[in-house]
Amino acid sequence: MNIKEHSISIKENKMKIEFFLNNECVSVDANPMQSLLNTLRGNLKKTATKEGCGEGECGACSVLFNGQLVNACMMPTAQAEGANIMTLEGLRQTAKGQCVIDALLEAKGVQCGFCTPGMVLALYALLNGRSDPTQHPTEKEIRTAISGNLCRCTGYGMIIDAANIAATKGEGLW
Ligand code: FES
Ligand code: FES
Repeated sequence: MNIKEHSISIKENKMKIEFFLNNECVSVDANPMQSLLNTLRGNLKKTATKEGCGEGECGACSVLFNGQLVNACMMPTAQAEGANIMTLEGLRQTAKGQCVIDALLEAKGVQCGFCTPGMVLALYALLNGRSDPTQHPTEKEIRTAISGNLCRCTGYGMIIDAANIAATKGEGLW
């Protein structure tokens, strides 16, 4: 890198960050402190992940980070280096992800749809994280699992129904 390029790099404060996105290796030149949400949506054009509050309150930006549900708006992109990030674009390509989506549709848990990408990730994390997949989650466990995901439309009852449908119809899958 010559002096001119180096100064541009410092001025723009960018660095190369590599991680796995939906099981594919990606490389971005981004400000390491830019949120992972902005990197996903802006740099990588993965727009299924939504921006709601931008401050960790609504869960619209939920993604899986090494299998754990996180708010991408609160995570600096640098933290993703070497990690496995899963968004709705990747999850819906899997049988388990599709099971959750189908259950949300069946339960009418998708209304305006703004919370849906985050809800799919949250329900998936709950169902996939059970130590015994034959044990269906209780209502309390479902409510706890989606407590970071705000939905203005459904009153949550239909989303709880969807979790139960996905647990039942996905038996043998989880
Ligand atoms: S946009 Fe990230 S929690 Fe609301
Ligand atoms: S379906 Fe509209 S916010 Fe949840």
